[in-house]
Amino acid sequence: MSGNTTAATVLGLGAMGSALAGALLDAGRPVTVWNRSADKTKPLVTRGAVAAGSAAEAVAASELAIVCLLDDASVREVLEPASLAGRTVVNLTNGTPRQARELADWVSERGAKFLDGGIMATPPMIGQPGAFVFYSGPRDVFDAHREALDTFGGSNYVGEDPGLAALHDLALLSGMYGQFIGILQAYALIRGAGLSAVEFAPLLSGWLTAMGGFAEQAAAEIDRGDYTQNVVSNLGMQAAAFENLPLAAADQGVSAELLAPLHQLLLRRAADGHGAENLTSVIELLKN
Ligand SMILES: NC(=O)c1ccc[n+]([C@@H]2O[C@H](COP(=O)([O-])OP(=O)(O)OC[C@H]3O[C@@H](n4cnc5c(N)ncnc54)[C@H](OP(=O)(O)O)[C@@H]3O)[C@@H](O)[C@H]2O)c1
Repeated sequence: MSGNTTAATVLGLGAMGSALAGALLDAGRPVTVWNRSADKTKPLVTRGAVAAGSAAEAVAASELAIVCLLDDASVREVLEPASLAGRTVVNLTNGTPRQARELADWVSERGAKFLDGGIMATPPMIGQPGAFVFYSGPRDVFDAHREALDTFGGSNYVGEDPGLAALHDLALLSGMYGQFIGILQAYALIRGAGLSAVEFAPLLSGWLTAMGGFAEQAAAEIDRGDYTQNVVSNLGMQAAAFENLPLAAADQGVSAELLAPLHQLLLRRAADGHGAENLTSVIELLKN
């Protein structure tokens, strides 16, 4: 315990809010907590937090108010009755860049400073190596509260535009869910053949690690806008090989619906005459 005396309030004590409040307590900060269902304050009060009777009381208790609720609508609902003047609101609720920008304006109209954040960790990771949080909003506000924010993990400031933290967060989550799609499909195929997922897991982990270089390779191609260099696994070949994934899945009683969107895009891009390019060129079909 460092004995840091700068107080903080945490609004929202779901799995994540409780972890954030716990990390602040572990760092020796006075912490005020509030949650819609009051019973969730109990474990934190046992550890030294003060439970506020209302969100407005909780906001009044500290200059720094950290908000971690379900979604943007719940943030507005909880903050609406509170007097925000003179406070700094750090919103760590998952949302879109547009929601973050609109919330920044809404908070600012009420006389408070605002930072938006995107947590790249699960609750047990908070305060542990590997956890990090994106922040965006005024640099001076970030700098003023950096020490408290560092309690949660690495603090990654991504710019003045309040929407940038959410953008970075959602881009990383897009990558993560893409990976989850592949992992679930692989296990469905394995299970469909009566094999053990646990026995197969090391092969899958190793393969995903081996293919991890795609992120860097694709990035360089996208920034160049050129998908024709160093092609060793061309798109046309991959579109043809991809056909076997839904065919094999069907044979084993497995749905291939998770893979269908990428399959369609590969076929379209090949049909458009880009079969000799790298697979990265599919990104050209993702412009709306
Ligand atoms: N868990 C993760 O792995 C993780 C990782 C990164 C980011 N996040 C983000 O962190 C945020 C919180 O996630 P979580 O895991 O803590 O979720 P959670 O365990 O489901 O908790 C949701 C919280 O929101 C509150 N809430 C929901 N609707 C409300 C309303 N209308 N008014 C007041 N309070 C309301 C709940 O209060 P009650 O207790 O009264 O229901 C609870 O405190 C989300 O935006 C999530 O996307 C989570």
